Amino acid sequence: MPDVLISVKNLKTNFYTYAGVVKALDGINLDIYKGETIGLVGETGCGKSVTALSIIRLIQWPPGKIDEGTITFEGRDLLKLPESEMRKIRGNKISMIFQEPMNSFNPVFTIGDQIAEVIMLHQKKTKKEALAQAIEMLKFTSIPAPERVAKSYPHELSGGMLQRAMISMALACQPELLIADEPTTALDVTIEAQILELMKGLKTKMGASILLITHDLGIIAEMCDRVGVMYAGNIVELADVSTIFKNPSHPYTSGLICAIPSLATKQACRLDTIPGNVPNLIRPPEGCRFHPRCSKAMDRCKKEKPGVYDLGNGHLVSCFLYAEGQKQ
Ligand SMILES: Nc1ncnc2c1ncn2[C@@H]1O[C@H](COP(=O)(O)OP(=O)(O)O)[C@@H](O)[C@H]1O
Ligand code: SF4
Ligand SMILES: [Mg+2]
Repeated sequence: MPDVLISVKNLKTNFYTYAGVVKALDGINLDIYKGETIGLVGETGCGKSVTALSIIRLIQWPPGKIDEGTITFEGRDLLKLPESEMRKIRGNKISMIFQEPMNSFNPVFTIGDQIAEVIMLHQKKTKKEALAQAIEMLKFTSIPAPERVAKSYPHELSGGMLQRAMISMALACQPELLIADEPTTALDVTIEAQILELMKGLKTKMGASILLITHDLGIIAEMCDRVGVMYAGNIVELADVSTIFKNPSHPYTSGLICAIPSLATKQACRLDTIPGNVPNLIRPPEGCRFHPRCSKAMDRCKKEKPGVYDLGNGHLVSCFLYAEGQKQ
């Protein structure tokens, strides 16, 4: 059994809006192992970003609130730490890169100064030492002319360069967990391939764990060791990547894989699978939240929430088809 770096148990995050309570996370359980790249995949609105923001405790109140659960990291529950303690972890031991790098940088300071700032916040370094380390980090992400980039302002860089600079900033303190939320969605395909290549290299060089969030199963196949499939606030299936593609067991996962022609070869399925939409999470369906869209739904699916069933080798599925006596 690999060492667990961070363990999320029964995480429930809600948004208290005027229209009602958005029950965004419905009890997430997830162990992230040391040194692995684990993916979270699912359609827009299924709770991937909220999971990431909850782990790093950046859910803004109002309207968001983590109402239940534990997130154990180095023997402590992150959800119980005062914000001052959390600030020592954020950007240092756990850091995050976002889809839109412009939002991570302040437009009025240079890239070098901003990376140096993060370093000085967590390490006893002079400004000069921190700036030198910032340039090293820029080199590490293969930025050409790192000295010049360090002196640049965010608006002077292209999207791909800015994404590299944000990765440099996230890695400046050599975090144990890097959370990457759709890190390449805003980039064109050539730059996307470069950034993914860069992240693969970083994993080998730094040994950090990566939580990679994407709606793109192709990226999951290329980058991840394991993957959690999310639907409407739940992780409905979790397994190593080859199991997910060769033996998808939750009806939602099968549908997602069928939706990609190149991956659907072994599956007997139509290409326009999964009719319907992600449900409104203010009034989510009772029982299994997937039941209105599920071609295999049974009576109990409409009333009870399925538990998690272990199909062996860490393959977990939350679906009544795998309940005792009902195995298919
Ligand atoms: N600030 C917010 N206020 C209200 N609802 C929110 C907020 N942020 C996220 N949500 C809701 O939480 C659910 C999960 O969203 P999110 O995690 O962003 O999905 P995704 O999987 O696309 O990253 C969605 O229903 C979304 O509308
Ligand atoms: S629990 Fe029922 S509705 Fe939900 S995915 Fe399984 S079969 Fe379909
Ligand atoms: Mg998102």
